[in-house]
Amino acid sequence: MIFETHAHYDDDAFDTDRDEILRLLHEKGIAPIVDIGASVKSTEEAFLLAHKYDHVYAAVGVHPSDSADLTEKDIEWLKGLTEDPKVVAIGEIGLDYHYDEPDKEIQKKWFVRQLFLAKETGLPIVVHSRDAAADTLEILSRDEFRGLKGIIHCFSYSFELAKKYVEMGYLIGVGGVVTFKNGRKLHEVVRQTPLENIVVETDCPYLAPEPYRGRRNSSAYLPYVIEKIASLKGLSYEEVRRATYENAAALYGVRKDE
Ligand code: NI
Repeated sequence: MIFETHAHYDDDAFDTDRDEILRLLHEKGIAPIVDIGASVKSTEEAFLLAHKYDHVYAAVGVHPSDSADLTEKDIEWLKGLTEDPKVVAIGEIGLDYHYDEPDKEIQKKWFVRQLFLAKETGLPIVVHSRDAAADTLEILSRDEFRGLKGIIHCFSYSFELAKKYVEMGYLIGVGGVVTFKNGRKLHEVVRQTPLENIVVETDCPYLAPEPYRGRRNSSAYLPYVIEKIASLKGLSYEEVRRATYENAAALYGVRKDE
């Protein structure tokens, strides 16, 4: 089995064949799958998918790019969802300074608020951080958030930073980008990060690995990611598959036995 730690099957890109894909993935041994909320609407849909499929679980949370209209009422609603056994994480939450909106202070406010939610509920976090290395590290390093566990998803920074996160107890999420020719920085991160701190993810429908780059991604392509990690680290496919499965199962607290 392969553990898919980060997918968005609630996305419109899967409207025509969502059920077929999720059923096929299970047959192909890709399970569990964690469907990650990114807005109020997608969190709602992730929650429904998790209840429709035995092998699908949900992360509930609001992505920084969708945080502009958040209210304390939404946080209370998220908190209510966390009482459900199929909700396994708070995410994706974080900071995205790639675009100017929403304002950095608004993004930080809701990132911090959702980190407190993770702390209150004891759930791990799924962190999205893009062009925001310093502020993400500063916030996650605060005393009040020490002891939180989670995944730094679609890791795009240097090995030095990956090392800091590993020392803090975080896992590094590796996806399709690792197969790209221009993925040198990430190759270095993968080579040097201990296997016990790596999990695999797709972020589908985005970021399909080679040879499918640019097309709609799906968890069926995770073997390409595992293969690339294995080759970068000089390990077998099976060693990487098993370790990334165990790392994810321990973090999310769920497994679909092999
Ligand atoms: Ni995502």
